[in-house]
Amino acid sequence: MENILEVKNLFYQADEQKILKDITLNIEKGSYVTFIGPSGSGKSTLMRILADMINASSGEVIFDGKNINEYEPTEYRQRVSYAFQQPTLFGKTVKDNLEFPYLVRNKEFDRTEVSKYLEMVNLSESYIDKSVNDVSGGEKQRIALLRNLIFQPEVLITDEVTTGLDADNKTIVRNLIDKFNHDNGVTVLRVTHDDAEIASASKTIRIENGEMK
Ligand SMILES: Nc1ncnc2c1ncn2[C@@H]1O[C@H](COP(=O)(O)OP(=O)(O)OP(=O)(O)O)[C@@H](O)[C@H]1O
Ligand SMILES: [Mg+2]
Repeated sequence: MENILEVKNLFYQADEQKILKDITLNIEKGSYVTFIGPSGSGKSTLMRILADMINASSGEVIFDGKNINEYEPTEYRQRVSYAFQQPTLFGKTVKDNLEFPYLVRNKEFDRTEVSKYLEMVNLSESYIDKSVNDVSGGEKQRIALLRNLIFQPEVLITDEVTTGLDADNKTIVRNLIDKFNHDNGVTVLRVTHDDAEIASASKTIRIENGEMK
């Protein structure tokens, strides 16, 4: 199987603290990999490096055969999409957020398409015109995730995106991400502390104190 991502001897240091130490791993195209490990162990830091939001101190990340530094950041972010831990909505309305993926691609906002995506995460079309101040934390999380999904990436990185959702909405979000992986072949890297998600994971990688265990 072809590797979509290859991480080689990656280190990350901030100030004096060694946050990631000698991480080497391969991610197969189309796979679904779950990253687990204690709080503060370096999972989000690793995901931010893979998403090209921060640079490793040393080591390499190869995406689709090329070092990630060789890609245009805008192209890379469309191909490898990072759904943040504790996302925020920007602008004034939900529309400002869901329009953004269209704007960066020079495309026109498609209300019908967006409504369809909102429905997939259990939200109605009326949310489009809501103020960002009038949506709940869990609604905000689901809206933020749609920014990553409206245009399908090749790699989707989800960083604790179901944390804080109720059981029904956890299932909805989980099933949606599973569907992108199963039906569309999107490679998924998921960070989670959720026991049910860990129990049902097909492949897990444990990060402990900045190291792979
Ligand atoms: N830019 C930074 N400067 C200094 N320390 C940082 C920086 N970024 C992360 N850290 C530290 O690196 C460690 C790893 O943080 P990280 O967010 O990757 O953990 P995590 O495994 O995602 O934890 P959680 O499960 O709580 O989300 C923590 O000790 C954190 O305080
Ligand atoms: Mg984290």
